[in-house]
Amino acid sequence: MELAPLLYDLAYLVAAVLFIFGLKFLSSPRTAPLGNSLGAFGMFLAVIVTLLKMNAETGIIGWPVILAGVALGGLIGGVMAKRVEMTGMPELVGLFNGFGGGASALVALSEGLRARGAFVDPDPANIGDIVFPIAVGTSSLIGWVTLTGSLIAVFKLNGVFRKNVFLPGQNGIKALLFLGCLAMIGGLVSTPGSVALMVGLAVAACVLGVLFVIPIGGADMPVVVSFLNSLSGLAAAATGFVVSNNALIIGGSLVGAAGLILTGIMCKAMNRRFLDVVFKAYGGGAAEASGEKRTVQGYEAEEAALVFDGARSVIIVPGYGMAVSQAQHVVQEFATVLEERGVDVKFAIHPVAGRMPGHMNVLLAEASVPYDKLFDLDEINSEFSDCDVALVVGANDTVNPAAKTDPGGPLGGMPILDVEKARTVLIVKRSLSPGYAGVDNDLFYRPSTMMLFGDGKKMLTELLMAVKEL
Ligand code: TAP
Repeated sequence: MELAPLLYDLAYLVAAVLFIFGLKFLSSPRTAPLGNSLGAFGMFLAVIVTLLKMNAETGIIGWPVILAGVALGGLIGGVMAKRVEMTGMPELVGLFNGFGGGASALVALSEGLRARGAFVDPDPANIGDIVFPIAVGTSSLIGWVTLTGSLIAVFKLNGVFRKNVFLPGQNGIKALLFLGCLAMIGGLVSTPGSVALMVGLAVAACVLGVLFVIPIGGADMPVVVSFLNSLSGLAAAATGFVVSNNALIIGGSLVGAAGLILTGIMCKAMNRRFLDVVFKAYGGGAAEASGEKRTVQGYEAEEAALVFDGARSVIIVPGYGMAVSQAQHVVQEFATVLEERGVDVKFAIHPVAGRMPGHMNVLLAEASVPYDKLFDLDEINSEFSDCDVALVVGANDTVNPAAKTDPGGPLGGMPILDVEKARTVLIVKRSLSPGYAGVDNDLFYRPSTMMLFGDGKKMLTELLMAVKEL
């Protein structure tokens, strides 16, 4: 028995174990950095072993080309990682999902074309003759959908494309395209390597990806982003079958499964059924502002600071605006100063606050806010009624009572943080403009609400100075 294949398989096994432990450690913020390193090391090992294996078995890979690719990819990745702002992370993650799907689809396409001569007369009794074309077709379908769907999601996240587009009969068109794709995959089984089928499949899947994401928007984007993440893993797993690479099959399946679990969590957070998000498109039209003239109580930081005088409990509610203004460090300092005065301070984290899963947790961890101060929606909601001040820093949709009062609206049915029950709600944001879902927020006009208008970091700094002088 040759030693090399055994060593390759052993290395893949180690890589797979590293992926699994990496995922396990990622489930807690405390162990997440270790999980990230384990996963990255596992991937490094899998890539090196694959290169050595391919080189030994087929000799088709030229090292200069590979090293040039690694250098170029490493340079682009390094520059992007250095340059990207924390607020740009959701788009970057969206791009990674899309490029992952696109890469899988391209590998499937090239392997499909390369193997054209090998399946002149496919034998249905030979499982290999069936698995290969199905894997090529599946990888193409999922990969192209992921690429174009993710690109649309990126444009929606960065605000370039905010409209939610509904075409007449859109769900019917999507169903037809999907069935057409399945038929073309079936066609590939009888005529593997057919250029017409593979190009047709690529075009149909690209259109399907666009139609899948363009109607969805508003507060439902977290579900879409998580699902696309899952699809990128499933595309990679299918490509693992195309190139017979166990590490890719295992790694892709893990990403796919983790993404599906996250999609489930996001659906629960939004109180939606997945199929409703995809076919009903709740995020449709943004609600119109009422037009009614209402009074808003705007304050200076010195005046607003007075509500903390004598307060016993304060719940801080961070949102996307905290990320934009990079206010997390001053928020942490503010919480510490209050605690030093005997105030009970907690942080309320909505599962879809910000623009990516765990966005607020990452920012607050960066500012060294202890994990035991962070509470999920379910844990904290009952405490608002006993709380003196709910300090809302750049959050909007996640505290918008329209989720309860307007069941048919874009936020309808989404569980929110019940800040309205606190004795005083102090909201820090720059204006009265709505949040991501485009829904006017009645909370701003309530008698118990104080608005502190301005950039989150600037206003929190002023508030901190004023509180220190109390
Ligand atoms: P949003 O509802 O998006 O509201 C953020 C608020 O921050 C805005 O109203 C804005 O008001 C304010 N803001 C912006 N820049 C600011 C600054 N420099 N200083 C202070 N305030 C600033 O935030 P949220 O409550 O976190 O809700 C998140 C929304 O995004 C949800 O609808 C969610 O579904 C959606 N979404 C989430 C994800 C994930 S995975 N978490 C992904 C995509 C979409 P001003 O302009 O008046 O300052």
